[in-house]
Amino acid sequence: MEEMERIERAATALSKLGKPEVAVVLGSGLSGVLPLEQEKALSFGEVPGFPVPSVAGHAGEVAVGTVHGRAVLVQRGRVHHYEGHPLVDVVFPVRVYARLGVRTLVLTNASGGIAHGLEAGDLVLLSDHLNFLGDNPLRGPNLDALGPRFPDMTEVYDRVLRKKAHTVAAELGLTLKEGVYLATLGPSYETPAEIRAFRAWGADLVGMSTVPEAIAARHAGLKVLGISCVTNLAAGVSPQPLSHEEVIETSQRRAADLGRLLTALVPRL
Ligand code: HPA
Repeated sequence: MEEMERIERAATALSKLGKPEVAVVLGSGLSGVLPLEQEKALSFGEVPGFPVPSVAGHAGEVAVGTVHGRAVLVQRGRVHHYEGHPLVDVVFPVRVYARLGVRTLVLTNASGGIAHGLEAGDLVLLSDHLNFLGDNPLRGPNLDALGPRFPDMTEVYDRVLRKKAHTVAAELGLTLKEGVYLATLGPSYETPAEIRAFRAWGADLVGMSTVPEAIAARHAGLKVLGISCVTNLAAGVSPQPLSHEEVIETSQRRAADLGRLLTALVPRL
């Protein structure tokens, strides 16, 4: 099946849940942070063409409901390139949301903190990214119905949305930092030497998601906001070994504050 046809079919299936203009992707350990009113949900497996996640801590469902009266789509869990999914599948949900009429995409993730001064538990807005995946979700024939062959990436993470996020965070008394996110393939965590190299390249945060979705969203003309929960200091920044358990524990510890931020912010996007 043609990729556009696959996208249209999934969009038709999701349109039965509602017509949201904002979509929020909730990452590792964060899938519970944004409660919806009048929610209708489908598991990834129930949406034709959706890839199905395999990793623990990523539930895999799409829900549409309201937050303070505003229609919002929430994606709980995501698939990653390291699971073996090609990037065209990793970004499939985002393209479906674009087709559904979504104009603004909020991407959340868990990350390792590289920049000096970051601590586990920090909430950080993405100001830009580095794609270290070795692949690009737009590789292959261009989907002209979605966007151009060579899309601009000068401002992936929308400046106006970032300003709104800072305003809302300040209103709630939450500290929200900003940083550059580097996406690595994983699933092994980085070596200390890799982290030193990434720091020299300008990375403040490292993780295994978000960048493909942000690229596909910009290609399709969506506005993007990225919010990261620093779940651990990156390899070698602290002497402690890294573990998935720590990642999930820290994101769950910060879930309440991220939830407050999103609940106040999302209706204003
Ligand atoms: N590295 C890569 N991905 C991550 C990390 C990390 O330190 N923490 C959470 N996701």
